[in-house]
Amino acid sequence: MYTRNAWYVAGWSSDLEPGKPFAIRILGEPIVIYRAVGSDRLVALEDRCVHRLAPLSLGRCEGENLRCMYHGLLFGPDGVTREIPGQDLIPPKARVRAYPVVERASWLWVWLGDADKADEALIPPSIGPDHPDYIMGQGFLDYDAEARLINDNLLDFSHLTYVHAASFEAGDQFAHSLPKIETLDRGIRYSRWAPNARGPVGRRSEDLLDNYMSYEFLVPGVLLMWSGGFPAGTAEACAFGPPDRSQACANVTFTSQAVTPMTDGTARYFFCWGPHRDHGDEKLRDLLINLALQAFNEDKVMIEAQHKIIALTPNPTVMPTAHDRPVTIFNRMVERMAKDQSTG
Ligand code: FES
Ligand SMILES: [Fe+2]
Repeated sequence: MYTRNAWYVAGWSSDLEPGKPFAIRILGEPIVIYRAVGSDRLVALEDRCVHRLAPLSLGRCEGENLRCMYHGLLFGPDGVTREIPGQDLIPPKARVRAYPVVERASWLWVWLGDADKADEALIPPSIGPDHPDYIMGQGFLDYDAEARLINDNLLDFSHLTYVHAASFEAGDQFAHSLPKIETLDRGIRYSRWAPNARGPVGRRSEDLLDNYMSYEFLVPGVLLMWSGGFPAGTAEACAFGPPDRSQACANVTFTSQAVTPMTDGTARYFFCWGPHRDHGDEKLRDLLINLALQAFNEDKVMIEAQHKIIALTPNPTVMPTAHDRPVTIFNRMVERMAKDQSTG
């Protein structure tokens, strides 16, 4: 179950060339996004012509309008038909749905719910490659699996110990001790200290550090994680609570990740990751993004295989463990939102 009243990541803004329509499915709906020619206007429309249902993403941008290149109907950025070749009358129903769309933090965000509820304050505060303080690499992976399974994976980091032993060289602590979990308005916050560590993989240090990582996982499926190394003793000095991030002395990185349900059994997983400028360079960015790709492919193998087993199981049920608390909290939250929107 997914909520429509949320901003979904539809793509990287760097992938959207002016005048070139871009097609994506979100929650099963075909959507076309384009950047107008001659203005900065961003438009998202239903990718289905009212005439004979051809995809408008095969169309041609004409200024702020989009022309269906089958029989030439012209649509405005509001979805209303402006022109029907060979016919003067434009019937009132000659319109496609227009979606609110916003470009922020290098992502294109589309609101799937009622347009009058599209509040930009609900866009998760992600950090992307356009941020001046971080040097980030970016990418995406397409999944043959339900988006919810990827959300579940990102809400339960105990899998790091097993799935990411090769890539992140994740230790036992992820599975054998519980992180701190807080419930937020539209998600959860996870945080964990790893005291007396030699730094994360690829950035091992001579000295022992207290590593801290904390992420928010927000509706509809956006992970925003900060991590950094502190002088040994910091974890204890702040009673294993949140540190003063400005005191981090090494390895400060940020990653934003977003899971977008495309159809019932497919999803697109967007991610960027990189060091803070004071803690790394382009070389470290490349190392991290390669590491991430290796790790995210480890997740993909497991999740796609899990998806297949679930699909052949009549009435599949799960047996939650202690690590599933954030998974349960988040899924209940989304279910509640989905129900509220159908009754309200
Ligand atoms: S299908 Fe679009 S104009 Fe005919
Ligand atoms: Fe993972």
